[in-house]
Amino acid sequence: MTPIKRIGILTGGGDAPGLNAVIRAVVKTAWNNGIGVVGLEDSYDGLLEFDRSRIIAPRDVTGILRLGGTILGTINTGNPFDSVVQTSDGPRPYGERVIDMFHKMGLDALVAIGGDGTLAIGHQFCLRGIPLVGVPKTIDNDIVGTTNTFGFDTAVAFATDAIDRLHTTAEAHHRIMIVEVMGRHAGWIALYAGVAGGADAILIPEIPFDIDIVTDRLRARDKWGAKFSIVVVAEGAYPKGGTVTLQEAASKTHVERLGGIGAQLCPAIAELTKKETRNVVLGHLQRGGAPTSFDRVLATRFGGKAVELIMQRQFGTMVAWDPPDIISRPLEECVGKTKTVPMDFDLLLTARSLGITFGD
Ligand code: F6P
Repeated sequence: MTPIKRIGILTGGGDAPGLNAVIRAVVKTAWNNGIGVVGLEDSYDGLLEFDRSRIIAPRDVTGILRLGGTILGTINTGNPFDSVVQTSDGPRPYGERVIDMFHKMGLDALVAIGGDGTLAIGHQFCLRGIPLVGVPKTIDNDIVGTTNTFGFDTAVAFATDAIDRLHTTAEAHHRIMIVEVMGRHAGWIALYAGVAGGADAILIPEIPFDIDIVTDRLRARDKWGAKFSIVVVAEGAYPKGGTVTLQEAASKTHVERLGGIGAQLCPAIAELTKKETRNVVLGHLQRGGAPTSFDRVLATRFGGKAVELIMQRQFGTMVAWDPPDIISRPLEECVGKTKTVPMDFDLLLTARSLGITFGD
């Protein structure tokens, strides 16, 4: 067996705090084991041309542990296997070009850090002979096979801080504040930040809501003397019998963009409760800034484990957190699915027992 001498690393999909921490861990661990690292720019696009990559040495990752974003750049597009790309050698099918360039660049393996889209594409490349290990990332925490993805804790911490700030102004004005958080079709961020921030209603995609049940709860608070309320709504939440609110429908090149449910709820809640109601969308602020210490540690553990798996030639796998251990799982068991909040999840049940309504 020829030893692994040179690996590529890429980041794909929406950025998440902790991406740079993974890159740093991979680079340091690899170099300490005599393996060189090539950083590929903008996800798999970094394998389209020679000038879209660079050697990354330990000195290049010094100081990036605490930085949000990704030093490699990232893109969030649909399935590249359908497309033909213009290259310096003429038009080529995307997948063929990537595989060809992987070999021409003298790479022995690839570390792909990304969400379900990036990992599913990575799985396809694996099936076509590219030795690859995946690292799961997303603030949404919706990847099957790992208890947490890095980025999630940072997003929850930011959203909790925002809810704390909204609490004081809500109380001062006796208002209802609606806080729309990200998460795509999973309610993890809304559930965790809602509970941590002391929300009165949490609306998640897993539980289609009834607006009358939500406002009954808010009116009841008014009667008790709590003249303000906080409603946390996940961008993917929708009313019973209704549909998800979209900013933009899916296209051939991009996935759908969710968002706007908070703005829709705002006048309806104001009307039904007769209370001043305001809507705040946290949006991409949830993805920015420094990763929490939890995410830095998880990202570092993921990066170290990814190199270990490559050295053991355990390709077609994804690193995962199965507390307290970092393990590996076959990519095929994890991709193409969404990890949503189970109805018997203890935090959901605890929230219910505290009197938080989910609108059902
Ligand atoms: O998957 C991460 C995420 O931030 C989702 O929570 C959100 O729906 C989506 O990405 C936003 O994507 P974009 O940055 O392309 O608008």
